[in-house]
Amino acid sequence: MKMLVAVPTYNEAPNIEAFTKSVFEHIPQNAEILVIDDNSPDGTAALVENLMPAYPARLHMLNRPEKQGLAAAYLAAFAWGFNRDYDVFLEMDADFSHKPEYIPAMLEAIQNYDVVIGSRNITGGGVEGWSAIRNMISKGGSLYSRIVLGCPIKDLTGGFNMWRKTALEQLGLRNIISNGYSFQVEMKYRSFCAGCSIKEIPIIFPDRKYGKSKMSKEIFLEAAINIWKIKKDVGNDSGIDQFVKFAITGGLGTITNLLIFYICADKLSFPEIPVSIGCFLIAGTQNYVINHKWSFVQNTAHETLSVGKWILFLGASILGLCVNILVLQAVLSHFVLPFKFIAQGCGIAAGMAVNFMVTKLVVFKKGKRQ
Ligand code: GDD
Ligand code: MN
Repeated sequence: MKMLVAVPTYNEAPNIEAFTKSVFEHIPQNAEILVIDDNSPDGTAALVENLMPAYPARLHMLNRPEKQGLAAAYLAAFAWGFNRDYDVFLEMDADFSHKPEYIPAMLEAIQNYDVVIGSRNITGGGVEGWSAIRNMISKGGSLYSRIVLGCPIKDLTGGFNMWRKTALEQLGLRNIISNGYSFQVEMKYRSFCAGCSIKEIPIIFPDRKYGKSKMSKEIFLEAAINIWKIKKDVGNDSGIDQFVKFAITGGLGTITNLLIFYICADKLSFPEIPVSIGCFLIAGTQNYVINHKWSFVQNTAHETLSVGKWILFLGASILGLCVNILVLQAVLSHFVLPFKFIAQGCGIAAGMAVNFMVTKLVVFKKGKRQ
């Protein structure tokens, strides 16, 4: 398996040279490093460039014009690596908090797992040089995320993680919504929900010796709120939940339909057929909006209501009606039934099933990040 070590840097001039050398000492001959530098004012990038001749074709750099955050840096690194022939990606900080000595054990574990997490919160793992307060905040944050998300991973926030390419593909990087501390939580939670096999191995995490942490209190607070958004966005409503919501929405639509029909046809004496078509359009629109906002909200989180989707949605309803009529006809002509409504019942069931499937898989198919 060929590995890419992705290292985001922002003002890591005091660390980057020794760090790069140390990583190369701990990775296989075919493994490579990609530094993602956000135009660090302290000249980190120039130092990396100077090192490149010592590691021909093994040390790469992505230069980005300005500080865009850790998540943006990693997502750019994955995109860069996906176009090349890497099978495994390692996320790693450049400040020696993530010790290169652990890489071989992680590589060994990745042979049998989709995701390997360098974990501070399992036996054998821990932190060094942290104040009691920082330790409490970190542990509390991890516990908070675990409880909110209902996810068994012990170190959700840590950033020393190894991914099989297939795991990154499975978890849906394009749907990632966080850019701060919660990025690592979101990555892990999404891979967990996607069914990836996950292994935590213990690491000791010393505080950085040189330079400063770039993670601010604001990013941390943002993360605490983000967890809820992530949960909502990823949270797996089962197909049954969706179907029940879809059916309730359909029921509400039928009530609207009948109500308008009653007002227009019975009270105002408009002709029935045009009124019926109007009722279909109005109730259909109501159904479209409720399904978008409620029944399939997990698939539409990144999308707005649109005319195109609305037409597709009405098309799916008409398709359902056609299936209903076809099945009704087929059952009536092939079976001898005590009551005709049994055939209509079969028609409704088939029509609704087709309507639901097309609505779920075509109209509200899982969206991508814009
Ligand atoms: N390119 C780029 N752009 N790199 C960045 C940026 C950015 O905006 N912000 C930070 N980095 C780089 C740093 O230079 C460092 O190599 C790495 O990302 C981690 O940043 P630190 O500032 O050292 O983060 P930390 O030590 O506070 O947080 C670490 O531990 C957390 C859990 O305790 C990180 O690993 C976090 O991901 C993790 O959640
Ligand atoms: Mn750090």
